[in-house]
Amino acid sequence: MTALWWQMGVIYQIYPRSFQDTNGDGIGDLKGIERRLDYLAGLGVDAIWISPIYPSPMADFGYDVASYCDVDSRFGALADFDDLLAQAHERGLKVLLDFVPNHTSERHPWFVESRSSRDNLKRDWYIWRDPAPDGGPPNNWISDFGGSAWEWDKATSQYYYHAFLKEQADLNWRNPAVRAAMYDVMRFWFDRGVDGFRIDVLWHMVKAADFPDNPPNPDYRPAMGDMHRVLQLHSTDQPEVHRLAADMRAIADSYGTEGRGERVLIGEIYLPVDRLMHYYGQERAEVHLPFNFQLVDAPWEARALATLIADYEAALPPGGWPNWVLGNHDRPRVATKRGQAQARVAAMLLLTLRGTPTLYYGDELGLTDVAIPPAEVQDPRELREPGLALGRDPVRTPMPWDASANAGFTTAKPWLPLNADWPTRNVARMTTEPHSILRLYRRLLATRRAHPALSIGGFALPGGGGQRARICAPAWRGASHRGAQSRRTAASVGVAGLGGPVSAALGHCRRCSDGRRRCLAPPGGRGRDSNGRLTSSTGRTLTCASPCWRRSPGARRRAITVPGSW
Ligand code: NOJ
Ligand code: CA
Repeated sequence: MTALWWQMGVIYQIYPRSFQDTNGDGIGDLKGIERRLDYLAGLGVDAIWISPIYPSPMADFGYDVASYCDVDSRFGALADFDDLLAQAHERGLKVLLDFVPNHTSERHPWFVESRSSRDNLKRDWYIWRDPAPDGGPPNNWISDFGGSAWEWDKATSQYYYHAFLKEQADLNWRNPAVRAAMYDVMRFWFDRGVDGFRIDVLWHMVKAADFPDNPPNPDYRPAMGDMHRVLQLHSTDQPEVHRLAADMRAIADSYGTEGRGERVLIGEIYLPVDRLMHYYGQERAEVHLPFNFQLVDAPWEARALATLIADYEAALPPGGWPNWVLGNHDRPRVATKRGQAQARVAAMLLLTLRGTPTLYYGDELGLTDVAIPPAEVQDPRELREPGLALGRDPVRTPMPWDASANAGFTTAKPWLPLNADWPTRNVARMTTEPHSILRLYRRLLATRRAHPALSIGGFALPGGGGQRARICAPAWRGASHRGAQSRRTAASVGVAGLGGPVSAALGHCRRCSDGRRRCLAPPGGRGRDSNGRLTSSTGRTLTCASPCWRRSPGARRRAITVPGSW
């Protein structure tokens, strides 16, 4: 196996409005990201994914695209993007953009044309339907932001479909001209040197051809939000979407084949694991990484996590590359959900699991959700269904860089408030604190880079009872990478609401006399008796099929201990 950059690498998501402002308008911009590239390289990530930067009325903060091949003036200009890309590449950082193919802004020239008349050539580029016999919407589909997903267009007496805001009209991907135009958009950015895309709501892109009603959700409760009144059976995850994903993959792959650099596609897909796996492709390859969001919502308990991880690994199709995520710009931050102490454990878990991890900006500081005063709410999700904790502003607040005014993010009023603890929870301060979560992230990223077994090793989940589950990245099998000497390196990470310090040790992973693979923790560690002998959950002494690290002088061993009381 030859490992590719996106298999070895760690991705860092940047929400561009909130990363660094350079022109004093309170909104982050491309020059700001460029200014912070050294921070990112120093942190130890390999790639950045930038949420949408295209011209947009910002009804959904860039996920309403009015022009696919340009940059919104609030973020800069195309030339700024080219500079950013060149500077990132110079530092060995890859750059991924957000591709938003399911819908455009209602102000996109395509939609302006489409709604101009029923016989406009672009009419069929979007999804137009006559009213139901009672004059109401064509079916019961509900927008993800609440309310009917159909908007009445008085001028042409038809409804158009929008899975999100009415300002975000869904494209009709069954139309070949739409496909051709959108594939050209991908080529436009790939030709500029972009290393990949995160594909927005990939599983939404095709709807059932005859638009049947969605079934009611028997588990619906109002606190879930209006969209959950029905199950999105006919409006998402249709079989025809796989052809689109395969077409996009073929375009991405053509660059690698032509020797122009491997490109990667990451699909945003919220589906159960068995459905998710289809997006790796069957006859034809689809996205490289269907985003795996399971850790975001998982019960934070060792056994449950171990099962979830093992089940995901078992479900992967042959050649399917795993990936893991703790949060993003739509979901509560990990430090809010799990608390500061467990945010550290989560970091250790994320960065020692095999596969490709994606970090969300600010999580390396332990940023928490910021309460937004009602008068300052910006997110349409919150404005449309207030008070249900569905709003996303709290997780999109500015990056606190230092203790200067506005945390070094801007010289003006930031577009969203800063975290209240920014005078201490900021990059400059936490860089100097030996036990800060930022320093932990740096160490973990450095360790991951130094030990390819962590990213591209195999996976085994040693059994055994007790509270602690070990997640193990054992021997790296046959990869032809420069770090082949780390073949015997393994990681073990304790996870759970344990009462003591949590540590991760790099040792060996071996098959033992009970047939299970184990990460060999240091003597005295859990799973060892006082003489350092490996024991089973029932206290039986086990022997290793091959020498353990204590007897193999060439073995590399390193331990990370997270200090603090839990
Ligand atoms: C998913 C994006 O992550 C979210 O922020 C956005 O509102 C919707 N897609 C609509 O594009
Ligand atoms: Ca700015």
